[in-house]
Amino acid sequence: MEFHRRPRSFAGSKNPRKSPCCFAQAAQLEALGITETGKFSMSDDDLSSRGFQLHRSLDNINLDDLNALFVKVGFPRRQNEKLLRALEHTGTMLWVTKAGSVIAFARATGDDVFNAIIWDVVVDPAFQGIGLGKAVMERLMADLTRKGITNIVLYAEPNVLGFYKPLGFVVDPDGIRAMSLSRRRRA
Ligand SMILES: CC(C)(COP(=O)(O)OP(=O)(O)OC[C@H]1O[C@@H](n2cnc3c(N)ncnc32)[C@H](O)[C@@H]1OP(=O)(O)O)[C@@H](O)C(=O)NCCC(=O)NCCS
Repeated sequence: MEFHRRPRSFAGSKNPRKSPCCFAQAAQLEALGITETGKFSMSDDDLSSRGFQLHRSLDNINLDDLNALFVKVGFPRRQNEKLLRALEHTGTMLWVTKAGSVIAFARATGDDVFNAIIWDVVVDPAFQGIGLGKAVMERLMADLTRKGITNIVLYAEPNVLGFYKPLGFVVDPDGIRAMSLSRRRRA
């Protein structure tokens, strides 16, 4: 089942002020069982038996492949050199390959102690709707929790709020509003 294929990422959105910001905090993560050990909807063995390989470092990542995945879901293609630099400054990432191709990706930047912000959550449209996005997010959040990070934030387009909410994300908790200053630059 395919839910959506947005033409733009948050960064490229015509009206980023309309995009909400979601927050997940330690208490919500624990309530969902997303803790250091992680309680995953799909086990590593399940994923592996379906031919999905998990990766948590930059080793052997094919940037052309990753860019192709971004483009498939409507995200902008980024210059490989800049993309590599961004990934080198990314503290936590998780990507999935099947038969050698990147088919899902998510990453989080931050201070690696207190706070993290999640970016670039994507699943190849051919593999959407089978629980892969959730499997990636659960693991990314467990990896962040394992580092002791208790405050996790992301920007979500309105049409994906329903994906993030069951993972513990809350829009504008306690009236806290996200503020953003975006400048258009070449990717
Ligand atoms: C959003 C995205 C990552 C979801 O990945 P996915 O693999 O299709 O999602 P899953 O199959 O893991 O879905 C997990 C759950 O979320 C729900 N869900 C998925 N997408 C949803 C959406 N857009 N709205 C509401 N619920 C959604 C599913 O029904 C499923 O519910 P269940 O656990 O009750 O069965 C994927 O659709 C995608 O890459 N979209 C394009 C890029 C994008 O918009 N990324 C987000 C940037 S903010």
